Amino acid sequence: MSGDYLLPRIATSEDPLRLAVLISGGGSGLKALLRHQSNGRRNHVTSLVISDVESAGGLKHASDSSVEHLSIPLPGGMKGIERRLEHERRIMEALASHDIEMVVLSGYMRILTPSFVSNWKGRLVNIHPSLLPKFPGAHAQRDAIDSGAKETGCTVHFVDEGVDTGAIIQQKEVPILPGDTVETLTERIKREEHELYPKVLDDISSGRVSV
Ligand code: GAR
Repeated sequence: MSGDYLLPRIATSEDPLRLAVLISGGGSGLKALLRHQSNGRRNHVTSLVISDVESAGGLKHASDSSVEHLSIPLPGGMKGIERRLEHERRIMEALASHDIEMVVLSGYMRILTPSFVSNWKGRLVNIHPSLLPKFPGAHAQRDAIDSGAKETGCTVHFVDEGVDTGAIIQQKEVPILPGDTVETLTERIKREEHELYPKVLDDISSGRVSV
């Protein structure tokens, strides 16, 4: 794998890795992570939740757990790359002011620019609802059903400059059952995601992952 990933420090439960979780929607993955972190001594803690969508339901999970949370929407009055870069500048300012050490994308539905990625590469992870490199993009479950495949799954990977192309850390298979809809398959995949992502974060923060 590529050598330009800079991994986070190996943390301890006394001095846990400070995570920011970026969301855009309901945040069931965030909720599972917060539950995992409160259920035992972990080497990571969620110190900040950021949503690009002001109405994202997931922000409530942060407030229910007394975790600092912000919504940082795309700025008005700008277009194209200028707008994306200004949005990410605001996010990076929040990450710096909260001493964040690692960024966890959990249902964050925006593509980050190479400029953001290069600042965080190795300390920026994503979960995707397919067995990458199969079915990248925003319609992974629908594409899996349409393909006639009998199996799909979920993937935790480091983010690189491409879309769903970074180094794969761990995957879990999920069956596609006859009669599955996007909704039923999405829910079955999420159940596995909610187990997989917290465990991968345990591994990363304890130094058990290499690239
Ligand atoms: C999850 O299934 C995650 O894999 C997917 O969005 C869902 C978020 O659910 N992410 C992507 O599709 C990224 N391309 P949640 O908001 O309930 O955690």
